[in-house]
Amino acid sequence: MEEDRILSPQMENSAEERLENSLRPKLLDEYIGQDKVKQNMKIYIEAAKARQEALDHVLLYGPPGLGKTTLSNIIANEMNSNIKITSGPAIEKPGDLAALLTNLSEFDVLFIDEIHRLSKSVEEILYPALEDYTLDIIIGKGPSSRSIRLDLPKFTLIGATTKAGSLTTPLRDRFGIIHRLELYSVEDLTTIVKRSSRILEVEIEETAAKEIARRSRGTPRIANRLLKRVRDYATVLGNGSINLKIAKHALNQLEIDELGLDEIDRKLLEVMIVQYNGRPVGIESLAVSVGEEIDTIEDVYEPYLIQIGFIARTLRGRKVLPPAYKHLGYNLPEENTFSGQISI
Ligand SMILES: Nc1ncnc2c1ncn2[C@@H]1O[C@H](COP(=O)(O)OP(=O)(O)OP(=O)(O)O)[C@@H](O)[C@H]1O
Ligand SMILES: [Mg+2]
Repeated sequence: MEEDRILSPQMENSAEERLENSLRPKLLDEYIGQDKVKQNMKIYIEAAKARQEALDHVLLYGPPGLGKTTLSNIIANEMNSNIKITSGPAIEKPGDLAALLTNLSEFDVLFIDEIHRLSKSVEEILYPALEDYTLDIIIGKGPSSRSIRLDLPKFTLIGATTKAGSLTTPLRDRFGIIHRLELYSVEDLTTIVKRSSRILEVEIEETAAKEIARRSRGTPRIANRLLKRVRDYATVLGNGSINLKIAKHALNQLEIDELGLDEIDRKLLEVMIVQYNGRPVGIESLAVSVGEEIDTIEDVYEPYLIQIGFIARTLRGRKVLPPAYKHLGYNLPEENTFSGQISI
């Protein structure tokens, strides 16, 4: 069971949260990869500081475990601002948001994770707050009620979401800075693994760091988790330092294949290869076949399988591609299912 979840990019428990916090870079320069985002953020932060203004509101989106929370903390840190952290589902009523907003100080960062899950009534309070730094509240009930307008301190909202498509247009339009975080290259993940090893005070060979990176599905959270597991093997089976042999042995024991695929990935691909014989499949049918939520497939599994060229999104559904057949040891289907494919 534990093993099954090891490749989930989602956070699993509080021990992991502690590990995660200890490995979080604090400055933009320590944040590895995502160069475009970093370069842009550097300029925006410098400009805001030079003008002594609050940074424009920032929306960060992308698959879980890529560093949205980390980057938000870094932004606040680089702005020399305080950060208040909350999440969409935690803000239940408009009053909850009003309380958060009125307690902010000038230039504070308000970080709302899973911002796509704000309720409509809460979202409506947020619009004027983002646009004019004002808060409209209604006092009293019935005919005698009246609306008053409060001024809020100039603050920066950072919203994070794995589902940018679920954001309403009026909310999305109120962010001046929108960045998508991409899956990391093996090279960047290798650097992250080496950095984390230094912090955890464990010696690691370059080739071993790269091996862990290759099997981390483009995701720093998974890379750090695998590093921790491999370190356990090194402690018990070796002298504590991690070489390629130990890394490979540990990762194989964890049943993470050469490309970092797990059971669910393989099941997804097999359904497409065997059951659908390479034809496009609707996401709903796939979800039923592998017994996972549509959201999980779209947010967690699909991005990596697309990145490594194993599946494509087409107008008629998801389609499995030749490299997936090769990896799983299947022959390509007879008829040429792969021509005339329209990618979207
Ligand atoms: N660019 C990076 N450089 C170094 N380490 C990183 C980087 N990005 C993320 N990490 C590490 O990966 C882990 C997960 O990052 P983080 O919690 O910020 O992800 P997230 O995008 O907020 O995930 P979720 O969507 O699940 O909230 C952290 O331990 C962090 O240290
Ligand atoms: Mg997060």
